[in-house]
Amino acid sequence: MRIAVPGDKSITQRALILSALAGGDSRLQGMLPGEDPAATASILRHLGVAVPPIPVDGSDVVIPGVGLRGLRQPEEVLDCRNSGTAARLILGVLAGQLLEAVVTGDESLRSRPMDRVVIPLERMGARIDAEEAVGRLPLRIRGGDLASLEYRTPVASAQVKSAILLAGLVGGVPVRVIEPRRSRDHTERLFRAVGITVNHGEKTDGWEVQVEAPPDAISPLDLRIPGDFSSAAFLVVLSLLSGELPDLLVSGVGLNETRTGLLAVLERMGASFGITRGGESEPVGDIEAAPTPLRATEVGAAEIPGLIDEIPILAVAASRAEGVTKIRGAGELRVKESDRITALCSNLRAVGVEAEEMEDGLEIRGSDRPARGAVRSLGDHRIAMAFGILAVLPGNRITIDDTVCANVSFPGFWDLLREITGRTEENP
Ligand code: S3P
Repeated sequence: MRIAVPGDKSITQRALILSALAGGDSRLQGMLPGEDPAATASILRHLGVAVPPIPVDGSDVVIPGVGLRGLRQPEEVLDCRNSGTAARLILGVLAGQLLEAVVTGDESLRSRPMDRVVIPLERMGARIDAEEAVGRLPLRIRGGDLASLEYRTPVASAQVKSAILLAGLVGGVPVRVIEPRRSRDHTERLFRAVGITVNHGEKTDGWEVQVEAPPDAISPLDLRIPGDFSSAAFLVVLSLLSGELPDLLVSGVGLNETRTGLLAVLERMGASFGITRGGESEPVGDIEAAPTPLRATEVGAAEIPGLIDEIPILAVAASRAEGVTKIRGAGELRVKESDRITALCSNLRAVGVEAEEMEDGLEIRGSDRPARGAVRSLGDHRIAMAFGILAVLPGNRITIDDTVCANVSFPGFWDLLREITGRTEENP
């Protein structure tokens, strides 16, 4: 069965921002019509960019750029809703604009750490004040003339790296970022697509990304956004675990190597995939997966950035694998849309799976006993969808309290799941 997934969340948000900053009209196709990009688009409108609504069918949109320093003083608070990417990247953009804005988000986002971007952006010259709790949204930012920055990020975070790269671009100053491990590189690829020279490379102590000479203006984008690998991951695991379904082929998926770490882990667990590749600025292809008995594996810090968003669905795969899967070096999971280590362990246990929580990871004992019980998604889209996959496996009976949150990254997920499995229950 051939299926497609909605556009990539990370690329959609970056493409919106760079289109807004370009000197002309950009054309974007295949944007994710989800809640996170909707938040970014709405913020850009408050900043004076005429961003049209994001079409639900992925059709073309033209975005008239206002230039690197053409954003206007917003009259409203900029609400990033549930999107960490929106918050951190927009703060980077605002750092170099001569305006003042308040950036906030929903309850989950207001509890997530922002000091990781506040510290480097203040070092460049932005003024950022917390309106409530230190290092948390809402933040009042006053942008201005920026200085160049050389910065070692304490965590491998594409959001932090991108905030600094965007601040350097709008501020017209060179920046060099060294991250402890390589994080996703969509910003770097899109920078090149709009005419910016970006250097990168392995260092003894991490991964370096550098923009030495930011241009005065960037060219518009003409981009087709690939399907989101992180969304495809749910269906790939469904195909591996469900013996009763036709094999699934997920087409037109982004296969950027900084994102596809899950495939290597699943291969270690016994899976094999048919993969065809193509694509230009971002690699794109099809993934074909068939039912396979899985065995446990170990995942350590080195692999985490390449599958950070896939750990919920990996945990579900592990719950059906033979043996104990150990995931470590994943402390970043505690500051995602929920504390995903606790959310995964408590929900796995709630449906009868043995799981042990550690400070920086978890251990899961696989079993083929039916999984039954009630899951609390905590408003976290990836927790809801991961347990949605477990719920539709033969013999399992799971209810999930909040399923609407899937719209953050995968609108249509539950309908697609019903279409694939032929199940008709509302939940799921
Ligand atoms: C993202 C980067 C990752 C990821 C998030 C999206 C991005 O976060 O978890 O869903 O678009 O840059 P970090 O950069 O904080 O690791």
